[in-house]
Parts: sequence; structure tokens; C-alpha cells
Amino acid sequence: MKQAVLITFAVAVAVLLGVVLMQARPVSAAGAGAAPALEIKNPFAGNTAAVKEGETIFDAKCAECHGGDAMGGSGPDLTDDKWIHGGSDTEVFATVSGGRKGGMPSWKGELKDEEIWKVIAYIRSLHK
Ligand code: HEC
Repeated sequence: MKQAVLITFAVAVAVLLGVVLMQARPVSAAGAGAAPALEIKNPFAGNTAAVKEGETIFDAKCAECHGGDAMGGSGPDLTDDKWIHGGSDTEVFATVSGGRKGGMPSWKGELKDEEIWKVIAYIRSLHK
């Protein structure tokens, strides 16, 4: 009887330890890298097929404000090095997904994350 209690206790400790270790692992892995943990990279960067799909989406949803060649209209030029809201993948994704106060609509409900990344891959391909 006492032995059963001890075994139960030991198993509980082992399980708890396992949970703690599993949660600790990603933290130490992220700490070892040089890049900030929250920086996201475009999974479609440089992917020719994705760039082509991104162009179709851009022409349908974005060109009316940013111009057919993304060089600006009522919305800013997206092919230069000037970024109001930051030009990293993480920042551009946040802009397109969540929208920005200055008149940039949110596309979260209308475009899948994957489609947003493809549009960004297309925008990158136009960089001058
Ligand atoms: C209704 C017009 C409109 C549409 C449609 C639109 N945008 Fe915008 N967009 C804007 C405006 C206006 C801004 C500038 C917001 C500001 O000044 O803060 C902007 C800003 C941006 C920025 C940030 C630029 C910077 O310098 O930081 C990105 C990136 C962007 N748009 C991408 C897109 C993409 C991709 C689409 C299509 C999915 C799109 N936009 C559709 C009007 C639009």
C-alpha cells in the first residue's frame, strides 16, 4: 500500500518534470539564436510560382490604391526603401494582415496568411 503511494508520487514527479523540461526547451533554443524570437520570414521568398500568384492577388486587391506596378497611387510606393510601418517581413505582414490607420485596410478576413505572404513575395520582386 505504501509502495503504491510512493510509485504514484514518483510517476507524478516524472510527468511534471517532463512538462517543465518540454516548456523550457524552445526558450533556450530561441535564446541561442542571434535573430529576435518574434521575427518571421516569408516562406515563399524568391519562389517564382508564389510570386506569380502574388501578382494576381495584388492586381485584384491592391493595385487600385498602390498602382498596377505598386509604385504608388492613393497608397504609398511599395517598391522603394521607404517604409512608414517598417519593411521587415514581420512588419509588412502585420501591415497587410492587420491594416494601418492611414487608410490601409486589413486583409485578415479576406486573404489567407499564405496569400498575404505570396503578395509580399511579389512586392519584394518589384524592389528597385
Ligand atoms: C483602399 C486603398 C488601399 C488598398 C486596397 C490597399 N492599400 Fe495598402 N495602403 C493604403 C494606404 C493609404 C497606406 C498608407 C497607410 C499609412 O499612411 O499609414 C497603405 C500602406 C500599405 C503598406 C505599408 C507601406 C509602408 O510604407 O509601410 C503596405 C505594405 C501595403 N499597404 C500593402 C498593401 C497590399 C499588399 C494590399 C492588397 C492586399 C493593399 N495594400 C491594399 C491603401 C490601400
